[in-house]
Amino acid sequence: METMIGVIGGSGLYEFEGLEDAAWQSVDTPWGAPSDEILTGRVGGVAMAFLPRHGRGHVHSPSSVPYRANVDALKRLGVTDVISVSACGSFREEMAPGDFVMVDQFVDRTFAREKSFFGPGCVAHVSAAHPTCPRLGAACFEAAQAQGITVHQGGTYLAMEGPQFSTLAESRIYREQWGCDVIGMTNMPEAKLAREAELCYASVAMVTDYDSWHPDHGEVDVTQIIKTLMGNAEKARGMVARLPALLGAERLPCPHGCDRALEYAIMTAPE
Ligand code: ADE
Repeated sequence: METMIGVIGGSGLYEFEGLEDAAWQSVDTPWGAPSDEILTGRVGGVAMAFLPRHGRGHVHSPSSVPYRANVDALKRLGVTDVISVSACGSFREEMAPGDFVMVDQFVDRTFAREKSFFGPGCVAHVSAAHPTCPRLGAACFEAAQAQGITVHQGGTYLAMEGPQFSTLAESRIYREQWGCDVIGMTNMPEAKLAREAELCYASVAMVTDYDSWHPDHGEVDVTQIIKTLMGNAEKARGMVARLPALLGAERLPCPHGCDRALEYAIMTAPE
């Protein structure tokens, strides 16, 4: 099987330069249109697809991103491995603005989004115990380190609905009582949908701020986030460009079973 790396770019990452045979493709899905056209091409002989999560021009809010269409469109193009790149706030002093965090767990507090490809007529329950792919995460970690990025291995991401940032009380609860490390608005239900689509999924969270808990830092604001994002986006592009060499053009089955997630998940009897 051929590897195809799909990158879902978050705030600040709307374009991807350096692809050979680059072409923006429009993909239709039963779940509607994805956030934007998808840029396909190759890097070092490995197929790649890039989708700006919020659309070029940042037209989709975290609640209006068509998550199902996005994941399905990548699957239809032949993507095997999805790398989510997104901005996040940090609950840890040592996870500083500019750092990257390889997220490996989530607390899903979103509530106004379609969260499954399944439903009446075909019922399935996939495991989300380990929602990210360790093989893909390890490759991203190695790529980030090789790029000279300060990257933290492992972290719990609180996915909030937004679009407003958290209150101080919420920020303290997530940090002190729930033990979360970072906070963002977009990785859920994306990670769960990738699992349902039997895609390997890794989340690279780029720290832009300390949310609102930190006594020495003011409240979060978009100006501060955008300023940090400008530097982060360049680093993220460098990291992604190293992945094809690390993953290779030939894709072996996922040792963690991400590509077989539905094997024992479907409850509905076949017709
Ligand atoms: N994205 C970037 N910073 C964030 C924060 N503090 N909370 C939620 N989403 C974010």
